[in-house]
Amino acid sequence: MPDVNLAGKRALVTGASRGIGRTVAIRLAAAGASVALNYLRRTSAAEEVAAEIRAAGGTCALVRGNISAPDQVPRIAAEAIESLGGLDIVVSNAATGVLRPALEFTPKHLQVTMETNAFALLELAKACVPHMPAGGRILAMSSLGAARVIPEYGAIAASKAALEALVRQLGAELAPRGITVNAIAAGVVDTDALEHFPSRDVIFEMTRQRSPAGRLVTVDEVADATLLLCSPLAGAITGQTITVDHGYSTIA
Ligand SMILES: NC(=O)c1ccc[n+]([C@@H]2O[C@H](COP(=O)([O-])OP(=O)(O)OC[C@H]3O[C@@H](n4cnc5c(N)ncnc54)[C@H](OP(=O)(O)O)[C@@H]3O)[C@@H](O)[C@H]2O)c1
Repeated sequence: MPDVNLAGKRALVTGASRGIGRTVAIRLAAAGASVALNYLRRTSAAEEVAAEIRAAGGTCALVRGNISAPDQVPRIAAEAIESLGGLDIVVSNAATGVLRPALEFTPKHLQVTMETNAFALLELAKACVPHMPAGGRILAMSSLGAARVIPEYGAIAASKAALEALVRQLGAELAPRGITVNAIAAGVVDTDALEHFPSRDVIFEMTRQRSPAGRLVTVDEVADATLLLCSPLAGAITGQTITVDHGYSTIA
């Protein structure tokens, strides 16, 4: 499959050991970028992604660390920059969250969810932007839940809405530097994240029935959008949330 040419670009992808982040990292590497793979717990899964990239002739480094911890993010960014020799692309993909009815959230649930899913983007931007040249790209993974009701999704929904607001703000603030900042809001993708949803099978079936395409979004389709926004042709797109859902969210 022909991709955009990202030869010479250096990318940090958070949450690259599994799911969407894994495929985004592999596809960035296939497009010619060298990639720093951040992950939290699953070292063997991250090592498998690295092995796959290297077997295909790509260049990558592993950077373990918790992106929800403000004191770890500068070290994660520094390791990525040192191992790649600079940084052009940051994909803030890692996410977590507690699923339950809104009235059952504790302050701790909300804090962890907001720190991982929204504030990590700001900490990453603070640590990475001073090292990024004009033409740089920052991407954040949002979801349809930022603007829609999904059962038990309230904390993550709030974090994704905050994320999209931060993307808008950063997009304007970083425009003078020639760095774009955008979010991708994907429809339902079959990853490990969905294993925690109490109604996973119902969500899959409902999505297939309601989606104009009659199927779920794939990890490769999210990676396609990521590469599109990393392309030099996307230099005037910033502060936006791009929906990748086969038109699911347009149906009344
Ligand atoms: N799946 C969907 O239907 C869907 C739809 C729309 C948007 N999204 C968004 O797409 C992104 C990826 O989702 P996914 O479904 O691929 O997730 P996933 O399969 O659950 O993978 C999560 C990844 O994030 C890492 N991670 C979690 N907390 C972390 C932390 N504090 N620091 C560093 N890494 C951390 C995990 O590392 P370990 O392996 O080490 O645990 C793993 O690599 C998320 O932002 C999600 O909200 C997903």
